Amino acid sequence: MAVGALLVEPVTDGVGPPLPRLAAMRITVIGCGYLGATQAATMAELGHEVLGMEIDPVKRASLAQGQVSMYEPHLGEMLQRNVGSGRLRFTDSYAEVAAFGELHFVCVGTPQQPGSLAADVGQVATAIEGLAPHLDRPSLVVGKSTVPVGTAERMAARLTTLAPAGDEALLAWNPEFLREGYAVRDTLHPDRIVVGTPSGRAEKLLRDFYAPMIDAGSPFLVTDYATAELVKVAANAFLATKISFVNAMAEVCEVTGADVVDLADAIGHDARIGRHFLNAGIGFGGGCLPKDIRAFVHRAGELGVEDAMTFLRHVDDVNQRQRERVVHVAAAMVGGELAGRRIAVWGAAFKPDSDDVRDSPALWAAGQLHLRGADVRVYDPRAGETARLSFPTLAYADSAVDACRDADLVLHLTEWPEFREITPDDLEGVVAHPRLFDGRNVLDLDAWRSAGWTVRAVGRR
Ligand SMILES: NC(=O)c1ccc[n+]([C@@H]2O[C@H](COP(=O)([O-])OP(=O)(O)OC[C@H]3O[C@@H](n4cnc5c(N)ncnc54)[C@H](O)[C@@H]3O)[C@@H](O)[C@H]2O)c1
Repeated sequence: MAVGALLVEPVTDGVGPPLPRLAAMRITVIGCGYLGATQAATMAELGHEVLGMEIDPVKRASLAQGQVSMYEPHLGEMLQRNVGSGRLRFTDSYAEVAAFGELHFVCVGTPQQPGSLAADVGQVATAIEGLAPHLDRPSLVVGKSTVPVGTAERMAARLTTLAPAGDEALLAWNPEFLREGYAVRDTLHPDRIVVGTPSGRAEKLLRDFYAPMIDAGSPFLVTDYATAELVKVAANAFLATKISFVNAMAEVCEVTGADVVDLADAIGHDARIGRHFLNAGIGFGGGCLPKDIRAFVHRAGELGVEDAMTFLRHVDDVNQRQRERVVHVAAAMVGGELAGRRIAVWGAAFKPDSDDVRDSPALWAAGQLHLRGADVRVYDPRAGETARLSFPTLAYADSAVDACRDADLVLHLTEWPEFREITPDDLEGVVAHPRLFDGRNVLDLDAWRSAGWTVRAVGRR
């Protein structure tokens, strides 16, 4: 499994400085959703031979044709290029995965359990227990999924027990920090690489594997399993806390006449605080942050340190309240009664540059408004289809302007750049009433107000 000589051809994909291509290692990626498809395509792009394993037959068939089922900048082209070159293939067979190579990345989902705050690690256990009986030679299984602390140690024991290779079947935990919308860039240029492993051999293999990133400046941190698992949830807990902090401040700003954007700019100049993740808005969502902080609270309870993590319950509550506030603000802006009001919703994805609507505040608010009798028209530049699948009873428009036809109110809920380009002139004669709520605090409020619109935002005058 040695890393071969550097090839001369650099990876130039428009997503950051070029990285050297390595001569091929044979790696596998188990679970090819957001994380796994990105891992598989980018590692193939770096020159490795990659076999992706995906149990969803529809997803697997489209990946095998070079098509990715979600929108992620640069990913489609990269997948197509590497499937086309034969460097990236897909399977549903553990036997084939085990035979293909010795370095296996586990990227399966860890969703929130129904009816509980806990993470469901069933996919991780199934993947490791499915692969292990086929590992009859020295191998390294690398968990990248986000898991509750203690999972890796348990999985390492299962691996050693079930693998014919015994303690030559190693496990490392290497949590992933990529951000949707920047997934390819973050994978090729990670802020840091964290590896939890008790094994010097596993560390050496991963240092070799990540050599292009390490050489380009990414810090490589080696820890025990528990620390590696906790690094990921601690990072998410901190980011969620920062967002809920500024959103709570926005509520105070609203009742005092202060402006939360000025406030965030001012406190953000303090290097100990920093300006990132201090944008007040309708809250965080997606497939990671909400479920990860809930799983952390649950795990802390199991470990007897619930009190230490109580604040995360408040972080979650503050976040939930932001989406509920959208409904209250909308009702107030249309005069109190939502039933029969036509409301345009700009944005369905949980963030821009993604079509992911998992736990999306925008779609949640749109759904609630619909349930209260409003005639809701949603437009999202990329997430129309995924939104329609998860919320088929909402009406979807083909453009931002189209969504606004005869609207009593326009809600800006996901900050896609194209919404910032829309001017009051574009909506002249389109809406029934010129009312706008900026749920992401990025629109030019003065411009809209000067054009006669009634405008509200989050924590702003
Ligand atoms: N999406 C992100 O931005 C992101 C970022 C960092 C970490 N993570 C973490 O990465 C993990 C995966 O997240 P995701 O968003 O990619 O989830 P996902 O649900 O999009 O993808 C998981 C994939 O694994 C497949 N799968 C499940 N069991 C399998 C098995 N036994 N063999 C093969 N395939 C299997 C599923 O069919 C699915 O396609 C989670 O733990 C998540 O918290 C995600």
